[in-house]
Amino acid sequence: MLYSLAPPSIFDPASREADRLYALDVYFIVASLAVLLLVIGLLIYIVLKFRAQPGDEEPRQIGGNRKLEILMIGGPTVLVAIFFYLTVTTMRAVHPPAGNRSPDVVINGRQFWWEASYPGTAVTTANEIHLPVGRTLLLQLRAADVIHDWWVPTLGQKMDAIPGQSNHLWVTIKKPGIYDGVCSEFCGAQHAWMRIRVVAQPEAEYRRWLQERGQSARTPAGGTALTGAHIFKNATCGNCHRVRGTDASGNAGPDLTHFASRKTMLAGMLPNTKENVRKWLQNPQAVKPGALMPQFKYPKDSLNALVDYLVSLQ
Ligand code: CUA
Repeated sequence: MLYSLAPPSIFDPASREADRLYALDVYFIVASLAVLLLVIGLLIYIVLKFRAQPGDEEPRQIGGNRKLEILMIGGPTVLVAIFFYLTVTTMRAVHPPAGNRSPDVVINGRQFWWEASYPGTAVTTANEIHLPVGRTLLLQLRAADVIHDWWVPTLGQKMDAIPGQSNHLWVTIKKPGIYDGVCSEFCGAQHAWMRIRVVAQPEAEYRRWLQERGQSARTPAGGTALTGAHIFKNATCGNCHRVRGTDASGNAGPDLTHFASRKTMLAGMLPNTKENVRKWLQNPQAVKPGALMPQFKYPKDSLNALVDYLVSLQ
C-alpha cells in the first residue's frame, strides 16, 4: 500500500521542531478545555443554585463589584500574556532566521510535484525527499509557477512556497522512517495529488544515497531499453526532462536520471511500476488530468521500448 490509512498527525511528532509545536498545542488544548469546563460548570451551578422558587421576592439589585471585575479582566489578561510568551519562544526556537547559511536541500513546488535538489551535489529528484536524521537541516522553499505549501505534519510546521520568493524551514528528524505530507495550498487541478514523502535515513545511508544518485544515468547495454533511449532522444522528451549523462537537459518536468529508483510516481499518486509507466505514457490526461505532460502517440513497440528504457534508469 502506498499510504497508511492513519493520516499523518501533529500528535505524533518526529522532529525536534515538531516536539516543540506539539508541546505548545497541548498547552493550548489544556487551557481551552479548562476555561470551557469552568464556564459550563459555573453556568450549571448558578442556574441550579439561584433558580426562582415560588414565593421568592425580587432579588437584591447590585451594581458593580470591584473584586469580580479585577478577576474577570485580570484572569484572561494573564492567560493571554502566558500564551503570547509561549508562542513567541516556540516560534524563535522552531523558526530562527536562516542568516547566511546555505540550505541542505532546495525544494521547488511545481504543478503538480515537488522538485528537490541538493546544493553542492548533482542530485535532483522528485517527490521522495531523502534527508539524514539527527542533524538540523535547512530546507529552502521555492515555487516555479503558483503558490504551493509544504506540510509534513509529523515533521513540524507548514511553509508556503511562493514564486519569486525563498522561504525556509528547519528540521531535525529524530529517527529514520517515512514521513508523508501533502501540498496544503490549492494550486490547480491536481493539488490533491501533490504528495510529499520524506525518507529519513541514518547519516551513512543518506551519504550513500546521495553518492549513488549523484552518478550519471547508465546507458542501456542493448535490447529494447537501448531502442527506448533513442526514442526518448528523438521524441524530444529531453526538452522537458533531464537525464544526466545524456543530451536530455530540460527542467520543466521531473529529473529522470534515477527515475526507476523512486518507489512512487506522479507525486505519490501511483506505485512506480512498469504497467503504470506504460499507462501514463499512453495517455497522461486519463491518469492525471491537468498534469503538464503532453500526450505522444507512439506505436506499440515504441511505447514498450520507451517504458523499458525508463524502468532501466535505476
Ligand atoms: Cu501544490 Cu497544492
